[in-house]
Amino acid sequence: MRHLLGIEGLNPVAVTAMLDLAENYVLLNRSGKTQRDLLRGRTLINLFFEDSTRTRTSFELAGKRLGADVINMSVSTSSVSKGETLLDTAATLNAMNCDLLVVRHNQSGAPALLAQKVEAAVINAGDGMHEHPTQALLDALTIRRRKGRIDGLTIAICGDIAHSRVARSNLLLLSMLGNQVRVVGPPTLIPAEIASLGVQVYHDMEAGLAGADIVMALRLQKERMNKGLVPSAREFFAFYGVSAEKLAFAKPDALVMHPGPMNRGVEIDSAVADDSVRSVIKEQVEMGVAVRMAVLDTLARGPIWNG
Ligand code: CP
Repeated sequence: MRHLLGIEGLNPVAVTAMLDLAENYVLLNRSGKTQRDLLRGRTLINLFFEDSTRTRTSFELAGKRLGADVINMSVSTSSVSKGETLLDTAATLNAMNCDLLVVRHNQSGAPALLAQKVEAAVINAGDGMHEHPTQALLDALTIRRRKGRIDGLTIAICGDIAHSRVARSNLLLLSMLGNQVRVVGPPTLIPAEIASLGVQVYHDMEAGLAGADIVMALRLQKERMNKGLVPSAREFFAFYGVSAEKLAFAKPDALVMHPGPMNRGVEIDSAVADDSVRSVIKEQVEMGVAVRMAVLDTLARGPIWNG
């Protein structure tokens, strides 16, 4: 693997190898040990043009636990604010011999463009409405650890599918691994062409959650409400918010997931989000560190550094 730009382009063998590696890092992290030799002398730069809590922090932790020098570039106080372009910014960082460039950008395809221009390994940390591959990998790891497998499951992804890079990466990954993926939401928030990706489309939570092993709620991007796609947060919650009442349509042992950040009382009820038995939301965050360590580890063994 040269870069990680999306789930598209990966195959089940590569994904399974990455999840197995991440599993080792879960154990290492829980034991309190680190492995500081792997990326010693390497530089990782977090280049985030959009806000982030989980992704940026976990890449920082992952890089440090593997021994890399980690720099978090603050875009708002960088020369980007003076008009420097994305490509010039990346070329500048490249000239400092950066080895790993973790990029989040509001434009779909920005990390892929940078990957053509820099020598560093580029990791997509979320680009526009396109992909968020490490989120999908950490979700898969969370499911695999809890359910003991990551195939043959029924997974309902609920809410704002149309604007979600998390939904796109997840449905690509979970379908590839042999799960039945459903998307559930109002017609205004589900793109018409999504069925061509092999997912089942539901506009009703009772039907969409029936028999589901996993119920994944997505953040409702509130800015969309101004465009008339959703009447109000209250109405969205009434029809599509994951509450105990709606969760009862799923299997009794169904797990609840959310990539964060959450809008409590909009796409998910607080009681469900904080349910210590059904909700694995905090575990997703823990898996995020392990998965990002596995991604850095995999790239360090790849052709960019090894010829
Ligand atoms: N899930 C996720 O990408 O969260 P952040 O925006 O906090 O990184």
